[in-house]
Amino acid sequence: MTRLETRIGQMRLKNPVIAAPAEHMITDGGLRAAIEAGAGAVVVKSTNENIAAKAQLRAAEYVALDSHWSPVSWGSQADPATMILSRSGLHPLGFENWLEQCLTHDRIARAHDCLLVPSLVLADLDHAIEMALAVQQAGLRVLEFNIGTPYAREAANGAVTTETAAERVAMLTRALTDRLEIPVWVKLTGQSNDVPQLARAATEAGAQSAIVAGRLLGMLPDLNTQKPMLGTSGGFGGFWNLPLTCHWLALCRAMIGSEVPLIGINGITGGHDVARAMLAGASATGLASAVMLRGFNVIVESIETLDTYCQAKGTTAAELIGRAADARKTFADMPELDAHWQHFVPPQSR
Ligand SMILES: Cc1cc2nc3c(=O)[nH]c(=O)nc-3n(C[C@H](O)[C@H](O)[C@H](O)COP(=O)(O)O)c2cc1C
Repeated sequence: MTRLETRIGQMRLKNPVIAAPAEHMITDGGLRAAIEAGAGAVVVKSTNENIAAKAQLRAAEYVALDSHWSPVSWGSQADPATMILSRSGLHPLGFENWLEQCLTHDRIARAHDCLLVPSLVLADLDHAIEMALAVQQAGLRVLEFNIGTPYAREAANGAVTTETAAERVAMLTRALTDRLEIPVWVKLTGQSNDVPQLARAATEAGAQSAIVAGRLLGMLPDLNTQKPMLGTSGGFGGFWNLPLTCHWLALCRAMIGSEVPLIGINGITGGHDVARAMLAGASATGLASAVMLRGFNVIVESIETLDTYCQAKGTTAAELIGRAADARKTFADMPELDAHWQHFVPPQSR
């Protein structure tokens, strides 16, 4: 096993950096760039059968924000702390052409020891099963099933789903895993007060991995127009999500056990964040916004930084998995500290 190799169930990844789907994973150029940047896996922008979900891409908008909530330029110069508010839609190609694109890039990915991952977003379950079977039939090696987009409440009725009930997650996952031989990775929402229950439901229903977890929704009032920025609520993400993701990963690991591989996503901006998410329990990690914002070099740099970190620590990436999660204590385990809180309040409050 090389220093960065990792496993998601039966799938070996050459490294744990997954190029996760967003608009930069729509075109052939973007997919090839992610593969050539060295990602362990590359996820093609999601599709489903719903016309409204595709139409939503044509009305999609994006804004990069600094810590004062001011819009900043899009591009490689953007600070890693830049946050993104967006309203997105699904892959513009029809299903047959999307599948063809997946197959073409699966061949390229295989030549680079990379795993090409097709991604379906749930709208109608019967259609999802049909498309999943076609994905398998075509010879693709794995399927991402996203049942946790941020947008169900905001999007056209039935275009996408945000599943927050464990029974629904179990039923939907089972509907696919009962019919498929290839591994299914279920992408879960973070808009839940109990992500570990959702992860347990998915993995007990046969998912090989739970992807933890999708973005939250946000609304940012613009002080000039006094209207919401981009006109609506949108998916809101950024570096600040990392500890929230790590918290969910650690709780998922505690609930469902260390044998079930988790994929961490949301707020990972570079190689040190990949290490942090792995320490929290992820076997691999997705990066979407950071790459869409700053370019494919983020993938190259993340792999290099992770490798340097592992080398300095005398460890492999796989050995990082869950170290911090397993060292996590409860509040009740912590020693009492004498009036410690007084160092953290204004002088008048002491
Ligand atoms: C503009 C945009 C489009 C996205 N499109 C998809 C998609 O098609 N399928 C999907 O599963 N996730 C999609 N996502 C979610 C990302 O894959 C990822 O889960 C999320 O952005 C959190 O990770 P990040 O902090 O690395 O961006 C999208 C995210 C953004 C910002």
